[in-house]
Amino acid sequence: MTLEHDVDHATPAAAGHEWWRSAVIYQIYPRSFADSNGDGIGDLPGITSRLDSLAELGIDAMWLSPFMTSPQKDAGYDVADYCDVDPLFGTLEDFDDMLRAAHERGIRVIVDLVPNHSSDQHLWFQQALASAPGSRERARYIFRDGRGENGELPPNNWQSIFGGPAWTRVTDPDGVPGQWYLHLFDSSQPDFDWDNEEVKEEFRRILRFWLDRGVDGFRVDVAHGLVKDSQLPDYTPSPEAASMGGEETPAPYFEQAGVHEIYRDWHRILSEYDGDRALCGEAWVSSVEKMALWVRPDEMHQTFNFDYLMASWDEAELRDIIDRSLAAFSGVGAPSTWVLSNHDVVRHATRLSLTGENPQGTGIGPDFPGIPQYEDGVRRARAATTLMLALPGSSYLYQGEELGLDEVHDLPGEARQDPTWFRTQGERYGRDGCRVPLPWEDSAPAFGFSHTGESWLPQPKRWAPLARSVQAQQPASTLNLYRRLLQLRREADLGSGTLEWAPEFGSGVLAFRNSGVLVVANISGADVTLPDGHEVLATSTPIENRTVPRDVTVWLKEITHQ
Ligand code: NOJ
Ligand code: CA
Repeated sequence: MTLEHDVDHATPAAAGHEWWRSAVIYQIYPRSFADSNGDGIGDLPGITSRLDSLAELGIDAMWLSPFMTSPQKDAGYDVADYCDVDPLFGTLEDFDDMLRAAHERGIRVIVDLVPNHSSDQHLWFQQALASAPGSRERARYIFRDGRGENGELPPNNWQSIFGGPAWTRVTDPDGVPGQWYLHLFDSSQPDFDWDNEEVKEEFRRILRFWLDRGVDGFRVDVAHGLVKDSQLPDYTPSPEAASMGGEETPAPYFEQAGVHEIYRDWHRILSEYDGDRALCGEAWVSSVEKMALWVRPDEMHQTFNFDYLMASWDEAELRDIIDRSLAAFSGVGAPSTWVLSNHDVVRHATRLSLTGENPQGTGIGPDFPGIPQYEDGVRRARAATTLMLALPGSSYLYQGEELGLDEVHDLPGEARQDPTWFRTQGERYGRDGCRVPLPWEDSAPAFGFSHTGESWLPQPKRWAPLARSVQAQQPASTLNLYRRLLQLRREADLGSGTLEWAPEFGSGVLAFRNSGVLVVANISGADVTLPDGHEVLATSTPIENRTVPRDVTVWLKEITHQ
């Protein structure tokens, strides 16, 4: 336990030392992390019981995907009560216990806030359904009359990000078909109207509720989507567009100018609190220069770098996005962030080696061509992580990547639960393959995820050797690589450093210096012979004869003679 890092909100950080600028933030997907009561769904007491393993890993903070009251139509991204814990995950008291236990171990806690839409089970939406068109209750959401003679056509042609139309028609209390409401995601996720003062005030209250409990910040879901073009014009995304956004010409429901005023307002609220509370935006916008608009000094503190996540394992592409990210974010005084995996994308132990097209949000299934051999996929993933964790700024890890977990592409159809799978009648597999519960112990039921052996998605047998208990004993395991990298990163303070390219290693190789560490990532080049006079600090895969082959990254330190 690292008690010396104990989180203390009462001590204001010196300017320039805000923890989030260089933090390694570990994403917990609560339903798949650890299950304490054996119902097959991970929960908050499960997280508390496993915190020592996160402290040993050496992370600075954790972000929890939603655990608030929800009918779970989109795994909790459909919130019915923003200020309570879903009984599936525990109670508010369990949350307080977890927060305290994390803080005692020096781990900060960020919670997920879902302001674009609520669940259709939210009291406000139920009231809206029971109220007349034009009422105050309906004005909190986006209700419109339909087109066509009898309003039988949706108000515009927008499609849901999960497939199918983005509008659903309601039946009025008298049984007659009525207005339509907008849902960018599932029909159980109605979008709020962010021009509405009551909506704004309610979210200020929700922020304060969690800040008062002591959270260190929020990850803001669909942070580019809250404000819609008031004309609600028809719009057809280009076929290549990533499902969550990120088009050159933004959709009329993404990247609208008014969204920034909301985060300025929230920034002011966070500033009233002691400590360094932070906002991190999930803004799927492209390019990184546009992402920087979300982290101007009076807005959010961080935003996910999705261009980095989407980059292929390609030297030129990576160099370009690293350069542009550092320039764009530092241009507004924000740290760059880096991320390779999360609960919405194919795990990077698989994704970086796929040879077929894999548009974001589509997922992969058993029929996908070009799924790599596990050993090849994880070797490249380890090289990619070893590169990422040496970059200045803040990095996000997704639970299970420290075990080298790959995508479970072969889940049986009947096990799948992502609304994308249902809304496209199985045409798109969706995201379940990266959400399979973690393997903790190789020979326990459900690999130690739950004592009963229950698991809301089946775990593949091939994961037994990847269990944390096994990897903890193996010096060269992926788990021990992550531990070593995080320890070295902290010691050398790489997160606060400056990157200087080292061009002398030839094409296909990315090499740079940061805070006295020389990083050599062989992406696709010829074998690299390491320079003399350097000590090897870490290698993503063990190397021989000081030679770095493809898909291997090493960290070196110059030997100085006294
Ligand atoms: C982004 C979240 O990461 C994803 O899991 C969710 O389905 C959508 N936003 C809708 O809330
Ligand atoms: Ca449980």
